[in-house]
Amino acid sequence: MQMANVIGHRGCAAHAPENSLAGIRDAARVGCRWIEADATLLADGTVVLFHDDSLDRCTNASGFIREQDWEQAVQLDIGQWFGDGRFVGERMPLLRDALACCRALNLGFNIELKTHRGEGEQLGLAVADIVGEETDNILVSSFDQAALLGFRQKNPHCPLAIIYDELPQDWEQQANDLNVVSIHLWERPLTKETIEAVKQSGRDLYVFTINDRRAAKRLWAMGVDGVFSDYPDTVLSVQGS
Ligand code: G3P
Ligand code: MG
Repeated sequence: MQMANVIGHRGCAAHAPENSLAGIRDAARVGCRWIEADATLLADGTVVLFHDDSLDRCTNASGFIREQDWEQAVQLDIGQWFGDGRFVGERMPLLRDALACCRALNLGFNIELKTHRGEGEQLGLAVADIVGEETDNILVSSFDQAALLGFRQKNPHCPLAIIYDELPQDWEQQANDLNVVSIHLWERPLTKETIEAVKQSGRDLYVFTINDRRAAKRLWAMGVDGVFSDYPDTVLSVQGS
């Protein structure tokens, strides 16, 4: 599953609150063809978009996302913290609504399964129920392999990807076991050798988080298939130049 050479990270995180429908719309507006967002399980089993363990940074409340029921989570303001007033009143989206939004905008959706307290399998199963059979333009990724396995139990057809901060020694075994189509890596420890090893395995390679045009251009030239960016507009503008 080829995504795109620029993927809006957490929607369009520099221009709208991360993991919001406003951010997904912004990503489409600036020309993204794919976005990435973080799927998180609430205490009552609802799946929403949210990145952190804690509510503190991105909502007007404190506490832990895993202790919220949907009834509470839907009351939270996820736009006020962003600062410029335009997003006050923005609500945490259900994964289901984010999926519908991507479909309506013709955006590919990389759903990252984000686990916080060892709930990987449960999250994977819940996300598989929401995704259902319609797996065109969807790629499911995670740092947590239990989450990927949970997803695959219910949805054997949707392409999967493993995310690593740093490529472990036995990454190829893990990638084969899970039959992933791509590897998603953090930019910091990335080396030329790592890029070559992943590409030689025949898998696609995507790198997070690249907000600088020159860095993106250098990575594409080295064989990286795409980059996740908080500033997809800036990075998109370098293509072909
Ligand atoms: O999916 C790529 C990237 O989003 C992984 O890191 O912490 O931004 O979810 P994080
Ligand atoms: Mg993510």
